[in-house]
Amino acid sequence: MAKDSVTITHNGTGKSFEYALKQGTIGPPAVDITALYRDAGIFTYDPGFMATASCHSAITYIDGEQGILLYRGYPIEQLATKASFLEVAYLLMHGDLPNEVRLDEFEHVISRHTMLNENLKNFLAGFHYDAHPMAILCGVVGSLSAFYHDSLDVHDADHRLISARRLIAKVPTIAAAAYKHNVGEPIMYPRNDLRYCANFLHMMFATPCEDYEPSLIAEKALNLLFILHADHEQNASTSTVRLAGSSGANPFACIAAGIASLWGPAHGGANEAVLDMLEEIGDVGNAPKYMDKAKDKDDPFRLMGFGHRVYKNYDPRAKIIREVCHQVLNELADANNPMFDLALKLEEIALSDDYFVERRLYPNVDFYSGIIYQALGIPRNMFTVMFAVARTVGWVSHWMEMMGDPNNRIGRPRQIYHGPPTRDYLPFSQRSG
Ligand code: ACO
Repeated sequence: MAKDSVTITHNGTGKSFEYALKQGTIGPPAVDITALYRDAGIFTYDPGFMATASCHSAITYIDGEQGILLYRGYPIEQLATKASFLEVAYLLMHGDLPNEVRLDEFEHVISRHTMLNENLKNFLAGFHYDAHPMAILCGVVGSLSAFYHDSLDVHDADHRLISARRLIAKVPTIAAAAYKHNVGEPIMYPRNDLRYCANFLHMMFATPCEDYEPSLIAEKALNLLFILHADHEQNASTSTVRLAGSSGANPFACIAAGIASLWGPAHGGANEAVLDMLEEIGDVGNAPKYMDKAKDKDDPFRLMGFGHRVYKNYDPRAKIIREVCHQVLNELADANNPMFDLALKLEEIALSDDYFVERRLYPNVDFYSGIIYQALGIPRNMFTVMFAVARTVGWVSHWMEMMGDPNNRIGRPRQIYHGPPTRDYLPFSQRSG
């Protein structure tokens, strides 16, 4: 038996099968069981993909035990403090950091694609004024394929790149337009003279009758949050994008699927849920009651922004945001933000509580991000939209990686069937019930 293999023995038949271990650059190896069903007539069962690698990828690496996150090999802490969001976008999409010329070109291309086809406004106008901006984002991004079908050949690398750039450029414009629709203000055109994050703030907060100069602090904070949310390997929404894309679906449809998946409170919807929760708890004095609820298996309440499928240590992104929270709130003259004080207290209580310690539940990226968004004046129902704007970069990077892989096959999990066995169709007169 080869050392880099695993042997599976079927105790019923006594037959053994040997499968190779696949090793990436870093991280644990994975058993390649592609031939298992053919060899032994059995499937593997792994709901929630607790122990299943679904693909090869060279984009992002997470070590959940150590609390390490790398984008293309670069530690998140370095990128978060030194890079711009578009620099990170280029890195995730192309594999290496751009030189100055390449970054200039990239910024230029993205800023020249930020406008929307004017007819898209008709789509926006069709939404009820109080539609959740995630519903608007999901619908309008899906509709982009009806407008930009000159580059929808998913088997053409140039087309893929054009669509990916269009998505990175237009999703912020749609996101800000969704907000404007909610508040009943005119949609603001993008400004090509502004950097990516400053332009987003302009589209959110300027009006035709009053310009808005984004503060450097706000721009810096947004740049940081976008970098931290840009990618996170095969999470639920990225896996959704990959699964949708594996059938050859167009990129706009795939990203709309990713947005839908992100919306759930167990994923990107958590940042909105954290603020709702903090508001509900209201005061540190109520913390013990809510801690008890979070631990009670008969109570659906969970401590939102706590726990992670992969991180069994402090989420490195949460560590960065927590530090920046202090700085941003101070600089925005919001130093005594009661939500932040409450969040810090809850964290302190949870980290010394046996229930959370034993289960290795730590704050995740969303525990503190909403507090910064709120301090920037971004309304709560836009928090998950902000996550989607940043994560679009990760989604398109994974989609391009998958579509560029000649071994890409349609994703098609199997199941353990629990329905009735074969039975005959009966006329009404012979049916019971
Ligand atoms: N509050 C209370 N208990 C929790 C929490 C929580 N936030 N998270 C996990 N647990 C408990 C579970 O009840 C379970 O307990 P048990 O072993 O006694 O049954 C144990 O910890 C393991 O949790 P699972 O739900 O099995 O872990 P899983 O990996 O499936 O879920 C998840 C991870 C969805 C993130 C979960 O921790 C959660 O719901 N957290 C709150 C929502 C949240 O913050 N989501 C954002 C995730 S990060 C992101 O998407 C950007």
